[in-house]
Amino acid sequence: MCGIVGYIGPKEKKEILLDGLQELEYRGYDSAGIAIIEGKKLSNFKAIGKLQNLREKTKAYESEGFGISIGHTRWATHGKPTELNAHPHLGTYSYVVHNGIIENYQILKEELQSDGVTFLSQTDTETIVHLFEKFYNKTDDAFPSFEKTIDKLEGAYATLLITEAAIDTIFFAKNGSPMLIGFDKDEVYFASSDTPIIGKATEVYYLEDGEYGYAKDGKVTLFNAKGERSFTKQALTANKVLAQKDGYRFFMEKEIYEQSRVMSETMMGRVLDSSIALDELDANFFDGISAIKICACGTSYHSALTSAYLFERISKVRCDIEIASEFRYKEPLLTKDTLFITISQSGETADTLEALKMAKSAGLKSLSICNVDNSSIVRESDAAILTRAGIEKGVASTKAFATQTMVLWILALYIGQEKKTISKEVLHREINAMLHTPKALMVTDMLHAKLNRLSKRYLHGHGFFFIGRDIFFPLALEGALKLKEISYMHAEGYPAGEMKHGPIALADAELFTIALMPKTMHYEKIKSNVEELSARDTTICAISPLPFDLADDFIQTKYDSHPMLEFFEMMVVTQLLALEISVRLGNDVDMPRNLAKSVTVE
Ligand code: M6R
Repeated sequence: MCGIVGYIGPKEKKEILLDGLQELEYRGYDSAGIAIIEGKKLSNFKAIGKLQNLREKTKAYESEGFGISIGHTRWATHGKPTELNAHPHLGTYSYVVHNGIIENYQILKEELQSDGVTFLSQTDTETIVHLFEKFYNKTDDAFPSFEKTIDKLEGAYATLLITEAAIDTIFFAKNGSPMLIGFDKDEVYFASSDTPIIGKATEVYYLEDGEYGYAKDGKVTLFNAKGERSFTKQALTANKVLAQKDGYRFFMEKEIYEQSRVMSETMMGRVLDSSIALDELDANFFDGISAIKICACGTSYHSALTSAYLFERISKVRCDIEIASEFRYKEPLLTKDTLFITISQSGETADTLEALKMAKSAGLKSLSICNVDNSSIVRESDAAILTRAGIEKGVASTKAFATQTMVLWILALYIGQEKKTISKEVLHREINAMLHTPKALMVTDMLHAKLNRLSKRYLHGHGFFFIGRDIFFPLALEGALKLKEISYMHAEGYPAGEMKHGPIALADAELFTIALMPKTMHYEKIKSNVEELSARDTTICAISPLPFDLADDFIQTKYDSHPMLEFFEMMVVTQLLALEISVRLGNDVDMPRNLAKSVTVE
C-alpha cells in the first residue's frame, strides 16, 4: 500500500519525511523516495527496497532553512518496483507523489506524448506532473494549472505536488484515497494516515473526497467543486498504536474491513475488461506444464484447497494440494511437467520454504503467491505473484486469505485463457464476478451488529463444526481455524456430506454447526446434510441467501449470482463471528496465545 508524507516549514525536512515514511512502513511498500525544494535548490532521492536504502542514499544530505517537501512509499501497481517507477515523479521543474489509480492515464499519457512529452516511468502518476507543467507553461500561474490538472483526472487519488514555479507552496488534492493535513503553529504537514504526524502536528483536518487546494505561509486554502470553503481542524490523538488501527478495536477487525479495498488492489492491472493479464509471468511460463502441485501451511493451505477446485474446473489442469510439513517427508514423486506453487502470507514459513527447495532440486518450475516482496519464498521461486494485501498484523489471517484466493482464481482464469481451455463466455462471466467481489466483501453495520448480538450464544458447548461442500469445504476449514485460533474453542471444518460417516455421533444441542449453504452450489445436498444434523438436535447457525426454517440462527447473505461471490461474503461472516466470540471471551484477538505471525521454525 502506498504512503504519502509532506511538510512545509523551517525544520529538517529529510528527517521529517523519512520518519513519517517509517511510520507507514507497516502498510507495505517496495520503493521509496523524497523531493525537497529550498529556495532554488531542488533535491530528489529514490531507492528500491527498504527505507534503510533511502536513508543510506540521503546520508550526506541535510536540508537547511525553510522549504517544501514530499515523500512516498510505493507498493507497485503500474510498473515494476524500480527506481524509475518510484515516486516522487519529476517533470521538468516539478515533483509529484500520488496514491490510488488514475483510470484515464493511458489517454492522458498518449495526449501528452503527442505533445512531445517523454515519460520516464511506467506509472499512471507521472501524467499528473506533466499535465501540470503543460498548463503552467501556457499560463505562468501555478494554482490554476494545478486545478486544471485535477480536473482532468479520473479515478482515485491523493496527491501532493511541489514546483520550482512556487517555491513556498504545496499543492494537494484528494479523491477516493485518504489524505489529511496536520498543523502546528506555522508548519503544515500532509500524510495518507495520521501516524506519520503524531507527535509533530497538534491539529488535523481529514480531507474529504473532491477537496483540493494549497498550503502556503502556514495556511491552507481549500476548495471543492463549489469553490473555496472553510474547514474546522480537530485535535490530533497522541496514541500511535490507536492511530494505526484507524479507529478499529483490533488489527484483525481493521483487516477484515480492509478486504473490500485490498481486493481491488489485488485485481488492479490484472483483471481487465475482457481478459486477464499477469505481467509477472513470461509468455512461455506454462509451456510443458500439465499439472500443478501446491504446498502451503495453515490459512494459506486453505486457499490452496479452494484453488484446486478452480484449477480443475476452470483451467482443466490437474491440481494436487499438500500440507508443506507433510510433503517434506513423504518422499514425493515429482515430475517436471508439474508447476510447483507455494502460497505464503509472510514468505518466510519454514516448512513451505523447505518444500519449495525440495521441488526446485527435483527440477520443477516454481511460482510463489506471497504478500511480502523480497521474502525468502519469493526470492527462491522462479516467479512470484504478489497478493498486495498490505501488511497483515493480526496473527489470525484474514485479508491475506482473501487476496490469496483471488490471485489463485485469477491464475486459474489466466491458465485457461493461455491454454485456450475456457470459452470467451466463461471468461467474461468469471471476470464479471471478480469485479463484484469488493462489494461482496463490504462489512455493513447491520451485519456486524447482528454477529455481535449472536456471538453471545456461542461461548460454551463442546465444539463447533463448520460444514460446506465443494469450495465451501475449504472455507469451512478456514472458518474453523479462525475460530479456534482466537476463541480457543474446539472447532472443526468438515465436508458436509461426510458428517454422517462419523462426526454425526457427536450431535446434540451443545454441538454448534455453522452451515455454509450457498444458493449457487449444491444447495439441496447441503440442505439435507444440515437437516440430518438438525433432526439430532444440533444447534444450527445457517449462512445462506435462502431462508432456512430449521436454523436456530440465520444469517442471510446477499450475493447469490456466482459461487465465488457467495464464498467471499460468507468468509466475512465467519471472520466476524470468530472475532466477536473472541472479544466476548476476553481473549487477545491480535496476538492469540501460543501463536506467531510468521512460523520460521519447522
Ligand atoms: O505466512 P504463511 O501464509 O506461510 O503462514 C502460514 C500459517 O502459519 C498461517 O496461515 C497461520 O495458519 C495463520 N495464523 C492463520 O490465521
